Amino acid sequence: MDILEAIQLRREITSFKDEQIQMEKLEKIIDAAYLAPAGNNLPSREFILVTNKKMLTHLGNATPYVTWLKESAAAIVITGRPDVSKYWLQDASIASAFIWLEIVELGLGAAFGAVYHSENKEESKKRENFVREALSIPEDRRIVAILGFGYPNDEPKSKKLLPRDEIIHYDTFNK
Ligand SMILES: Cc1cc2nc3c(=O)[nH]c(=O)nc-3n(C[C@H](O)[C@H](O)[C@H](O)COP(=O)(O)O)c2cc1C
Repeated sequence: MDILEAIQLRREITSFKDEQIQMEKLEKIIDAAYLAPAGNNLPSREFILVTNKKMLTHLGNATPYVTWLKESAAAIVITGRPDVSKYWLQDASIASAFIWLEIVELGLGAAFGAVYHSENKEESKKRENFVREALSIPEDRRIVAILGFGYPNDEPKSKKLLPRDEIIHYDTFNK
């Protein structure tokens, strides 16, 4: 599969088969995270692979929008380090995309669950601390997101894309 094909195929998958993922595949997904670029090549993001079913079920309560973790075969928690780089959020986000595409390449499906909440400090703290306590994540790390994944249970419904010319501009920003 070439990269554009993976990008075209990628959708959010929130229902998974009760089937484990081979370690070989998990390692490839971790490689995608490990090899993702970071601003100034600083180690501003770290990843936790979770495969324990009890823990996945628990993490499914981290926010109201990640209940699909209870069905997933594995998850990667993406953490960021603001003390290391001003680009921690971008770095973590780019790595998330790399992970998601490798998941597609391997014939798996993933859902992205935002944990860090940029507009509501209290809510962000609550959500992040839930994950922090569950996985013993140090206080100085921010918890950006959890990607849950597994073998897809069904096909996602087709989605409506915005007209291309509303989003893509050539040479200048055309209104
Ligand atoms: C920054 C970001 C935050 C998201 N947060 C959640 C979330 O908390 N829970 C969830 O189920 N999906 C979440 N999603 C998934 C999007 O809703 C989904 O990608 C979008 O509807 C487009 O659908 P597609 O991924 O199938 O193309 C998030 C996606 C992004 C990029």
